[in-house]
Amino acid sequence: MTAATAAPRLHVVTGKGGTGKTTVAVALALSLADEGRRVLVCEVEGRQGVSRLLGTEALPYEEVELAEGAGGGQVVGLAVEPRAALVDYLDTFHGGALGGLGGRGARVSAVLDRAGAVEFIADVAPGLRDVLLVGKVYEAVRRTATGRSDGGRPVYDAVVLDAPPTGRISRFLGIGDELAQLAAGGPIAARAASVAALLRSEQTAVHLVCLPEELPVTETLEAAAELRSAGLPLGAVVANRVLAPPAEGGGPRARVRTALRRALAPDRDDDAGGGVGPSGGRDALDDVVEALLAQDRVRAARVAEQRRWLGAAAGAGRPLRELPDLPGGIDLEGLYRLADDLAASPLPAPQPSPAGGAA
Ligand SMILES: Nc1ncnc2c1ncn2[C@@H]1O[C@H](COP(=O)(O)OP(=O)(O)OP(=O)(O)O)[C@@H](O)[C@H]1O
Ligand SMILES: [Mg+2]
Repeated sequence: MTAATAAPRLHVVTGKGGTGKTTVAVALALSLADEGRRVLVCEVEGRQGVSRLLGTEALPYEEVELAEGAGGGQVVGLAVEPRAALVDYLDTFHGGALGGLGGRGARVSAVLDRAGAVEFIADVAPGLRDVLLVGKVYEAVRRTATGRSDGGRPVYDAVVLDAPPTGRISRFLGIGDELAQLAAGGPIAARAASVAALLRSEQTAVHLVCLPEELPVTETLEAAAELRSAGLPLGAVVANRVLAPPAEGGGPRARVRTALRRALAPDRDDDAGGGVGPSGGRDALDDVVEALLAQDRVRAARVAEQRRWLGAAAGAGRPLRELPDLPGGIDLEGLYRLADDLAASPLPAPQPSPAGGAA
């Protein structure tokens, strides 16, 4: 077994719906690009989440440069789409097979249109649709400058997959055996086997994004167990939207009042006592102080609640990385801020399993 420290080349980012998978996937890609790496970020659900996040045009089924990182790093985006993935696959593996029907290349898709093949596949064999999508990701991981999986330098130093949510991740990754049975012995089964081997190798890390709340954490623990028993290498649990503890300046009423008074009128210093207004009764400042303190208490309670769930998330048995809740939501600046956080504390590589990975 080689270096236990080898960085994974395929980062699969999953998690409960709406917890920040797309955000984390893109921030991770940006952070890797800032280390000078050439990174592909893939989405597979036809949602255009990546382009929406980055404010770029919708991603085509084609690799487009999205951002540059320091030291020649680059983020390239790709929206993998089932129809195109199918055409791709057929072109690669059965280029000649459809010759009689309609020729190669673009015309293959015309044949598929007539046959309604994509819809057929989605209805009858969803597992096949998934293997085509993951297969494209697999191909991107394995691609080398010469265009072949020949051990040459890979085109991408890392591929980040904005994956389906935890509820569908096992089936998406083809962990079940239905597909192998469906297409036993054929080229699709062979591809599924190659994909499975990559997914279970030390080149892959599956990261679980969650919020520090009950349901996402519970789902994360379940997913960790499921993925682990399927032999998939787990990376980090990424706890997203973690609240910062209440700001300094909270605490005793008198101190808050004094701080506020100074902030509002730095030149005056007529309020050394605190708690009561200048005339001895409550004034407007007291009301503000009360409101601030009440807000702080609510926040402190939420922070404590989040801490409890963060503690529970440790039960997944993987290192926990926290990303802050950005109060204004995610804009480009926020995205880079999360990327900086990830760069400062990189997501851990999975531990190689003693036997060198499940068979
Ligand atoms: N750290 C954060 N701070 C503030 N807002 C965030 C943060 N992370 C994500 N969000 C917001 O939460 C929402 C969901 O994020 P995102 O789309 O990345 O989640 P997702 O898991 O990909 O969702 P889906 O399951 O729908 O694909 C978005 O509106 C995003 O801007
Ligand atoms: Mg998403």
